[in-house]
Amino acid sequence: MSLTNGENTGLDEERARERDRRFVWHPWSPVNKSGHDGPVLVSGEGYRVRDATGRFYLDAMASAMNSSCGYAHPALLAAAERQLARLPHFDLSVGSHLPVGRVAERLGGLMPEGLGRTLFVNSGSEATEAAVRIAHDYWTNKDEPRDRIVTFADGYHGTTYVAQHLSGLPTNALYGDEPFPVTKVRAPLAPRELRTPEGLAALTEAFERAVLEGPPPAAVFVEAFLNVGGGVVLPGGLLRALRELCDRSGALLILDEVFCGFGRTGRMFGFEHDGITPDLVTMSKGISGGYVPFAALTTTEEVYASFAADPLIGGLRYGHTTGGHAVACAVALAVLDVMEEQKLVEASAALGGQLLDGLLPMLDHPEISDVRGLGLVATVECHRPEFAAGLVAGAAARGVLLRRQGPCVMAIPPLIIDRSGIAELVRSTGQALADL
Ligand SMILES: Cc1ncc(COP(=O)(O)O)c(C=O)c1O
Repeated sequence: MSLTNGENTGLDEERARERDRRFVWHPWSPVNKSGHDGPVLVSGEGYRVRDATGRFYLDAMASAMNSSCGYAHPALLAAAERQLARLPHFDLSVGSHLPVGRVAERLGGLMPEGLGRTLFVNSGSEATEAAVRIAHDYWTNKDEPRDRIVTFADGYHGTTYVAQHLSGLPTNALYGDEPFPVTKVRAPLAPRELRTPEGLAALTEAFERAVLEGPPPAAVFVEAFLNVGGGVVLPGGLLRALRELCDRSGALLILDEVFCGFGRTGRMFGFEHDGITPDLVTMSKGISGGYVPFAALTTTEEVYASFAADPLIGGLRYGHTTGGHAVACAVALAVLDVMEEQKLVEASAALGGQLLDGLLPMLDHPEISDVRGLGLVATVECHRPEFAAGLVAGAAARGVLLRRQGPCVMAIPPLIIDRSGIAELVRSTGQALADL
């Protein structure tokens, strides 16, 4: 691939921007007359994307934190094309198709023993919505109704009404009545003190109080790494403590692997760092590498079988028209093949080490309060959001797209990145910092 910046794409960038300004409503973005100031992208290859002016960027946002196999991967393109030509989709509430069974079997094989039943949806938020519904209905099915959910206050599980209700992040504040009780655990220490034995003790105690005080919860619903909540590395052992707590209280343990799953943290799933078995796992993003919308939820036979008691249909009263879309299933199967062939989980662990080592010296800068990471996700936390914004803008000017969440700058490159890509990412981010 030619990396010549400024190569003519034959597109009128200004016209594209004008159309965008007039007709597109960008989510999570300020509404203003001058429009969105991010790049207008036209293509991607490997770990780079190209904008309408012909400029290349190293994509350290992995699209929307999705990209595992990178852009224009021939195996993924071929899988999508083949399935599109054969059968785009069929309604799974009345029938089935070949790729859905194959991908469900494959996911079951990746999970710990006992987790083998999978429901497919289209987005991480839908997986959250379904997981909460299943947890509530499970207790109703058992004739012991429970509805309280325990979560992290700084967790993020999506943007539907129910998913927003699980989060205490200010941008997720509910705009209506609370549909069911949620106990939100606030981290008792700053992120840099959290990943220590003291952090583990303090967080475990906070979750113990949240779970054991009050009515028994239906579920504890957590991420293995707080993504939108500031790219926070949680202390090793926390998920084991939560597993024990759930066993004591009967609550289901739901792991949100929408971001962590499929190699992002250097393991296939984030919960593997603690060697636990959740009761329910939600997945999206890396599962289809950002090529097509896709999400899934895997649970135990016990949870599944409890739905025979549903009085109306003897099953789950939840589903979406395009859930388990055949093309998405075919792409997910190809993603899993690529991950295996290219050893992307191992690569994530090894290159993640290089990324973190490269960024750690930034800690010497007075504007930076913490540098942390796990697998191929690294967070540089600044004291001020404006400084973080300056760092992201400076890196973009040097051809590296980083992600910002408040005062935190996150580097989340596709898992197919190589050592020279990581070196470039570290160098450009360091130069952007030096320029500030
Ligand atoms: C951990 C986690 N859960 C759920 C979601 C929601 O997924 P989606 O945006 O596909 O609805 C996200 C999205 O960033 C996420 O990071």
